Amino acid sequence: MTLHHYHANSSKIATPPTLDLFENKHLQGLLSETKELLFSLSSSRSIMQSQRWIVMGIICATFIHFLMPVEPFPIADKITSLPGQPQVSFQQFAGYITVDEKQNRALFYYFFEAESQPASKPLVLWLDGGPGCSSVGAGALLEHGPFKVRGDNLVRNEYNWNKEANMLYLESPAGVGFSFSANKSFYTNVNEEITARDNLIFLQRWFAKYPKYRAKEFFITGESYAGHYVPQLAQLIVQSNLKINLKGIAEADKKELVCGEGITEKYLNRKDVQKALHAQLVGIKEWALCRDSDFLHYDEKNREISIIGVIVSLVKSGIRVFIYSGDQDAAIPFIGSRTLVNQLAKEMRLKTTVPYRAWFEGKQVGGWTQVYGKTQLSFASIRGASHTAPSTQPARSFSLFKAFLAGKPLPNA
Ligand SMILES: *[C@@H]1O[C@H](CO)[C@@H](O)[C@H](O)[C@H]1NC(C)=O
Repeated sequence: MTLHHYHANSSKIATPPTLDLFENKHLQGLLSETKELLFSLSSSRSIMQSQRWIVMGIICATFIHFLMPVEPFPIADKITSLPGQPQVSFQQFAGYITVDEKQNRALFYYFFEAESQPASKPLVLWLDGGPGCSSVGAGALLEHGPFKVRGDNLVRNEYNWNKEANMLYLESPAGVGFSFSANKSFYTNVNEEITARDNLIFLQRWFAKYPKYRAKEFFITGESYAGHYVPQLAQLIVQSNLKINLKGIAEADKKELVCGEGITEKYLNRKDVQKALHAQLVGIKEWALCRDSDFLHYDEKNREISIIGVIVSLVKSGIRVFIYSGDQDAAIPFIGSRTLVNQLAKEMRLKTTVPYRAWFEGKQVGGWTQVYGKTQLSFASIRGASHTAPSTQPARSFSLFKAFLAGKPLPNA
């Protein structure tokens, strides 16, 4: 073995940690590789003393590096704690996944493990719409993440979806939130095809970083314009034959009422918060909940693209589809999504298995629902909060989320 060879090996070991290196068998492989190195190093007479010290130093550093955090996750993306955050028992991660090296385009994600027994819970991706709105801001911090912003602090959200699932929030496409493209021309013409492709590359690379989630049941969820992103990404996954255990998609066609946008934007624009999240502002001055179309120009014609064909093909390939809408007024269930689901059922000749009826959350009517086939296709509305306590709406969304993951009709009493 030449010295050159030692160096090559050492630098391979000392590479910044990617997730795979933290897998136990990899760790053992590395340790035995390092032992071999030490052995051949001590028996070698051809290395000058000073060079030997350098190599020894690298090896020792490697040992310390790998022996301390034996953890099957990318340490670099692990969040220690966010400023003002209450203590929690689950792990959080945030960071970037590069989707295009040449153009230096990277998407930002925020990932919460399930509050309890994450290994036995599914993985759920959440996408916000807009186009141009952030899933981290809207989905995670304003709707169903574990925290909400209150002034300078974070407080626990009682109806956090990571009670039931491991939750992955993705800011997409590049230009949204902390996600960026170093080549700004990208922002001048973004469309659904590019978005779906980048989202797929993101997922592929995210799973490579978090391999223990690869075999889990996987669901894609989202709201508003994500009513396009969600089925389009699902279709790409099915077509690509990737080993992703996609079980279902859910999409809301109407945004629920939320408040606290201002303080959430303020919080995410704090330097200490950005540091804790491993986020950067690349080519922008501020993080924004939604980007306007002057900055991120999304092909307007895409709004007209019909997703009916996509959804039909998804249901045919065994993916559960749940379409829901939040109604602001109890008396008027939102018509649009119900009409869409009816149309889909007719096209696929799926029989109604749960006739249109009220569903319940606690003792109250949570909204209306209808199910077709063996829960292959479901519709539900969430009764708005305008006539009752505002806190009941997240409770209803949470009930709906649970029923969707379990593949069960919503409770009728
Ligand atoms: C930047 O992106 C545009 C459009 O996507 C492309 O035409 C151009 O070649 C890119 N510039 C560089 C320097 O790569």
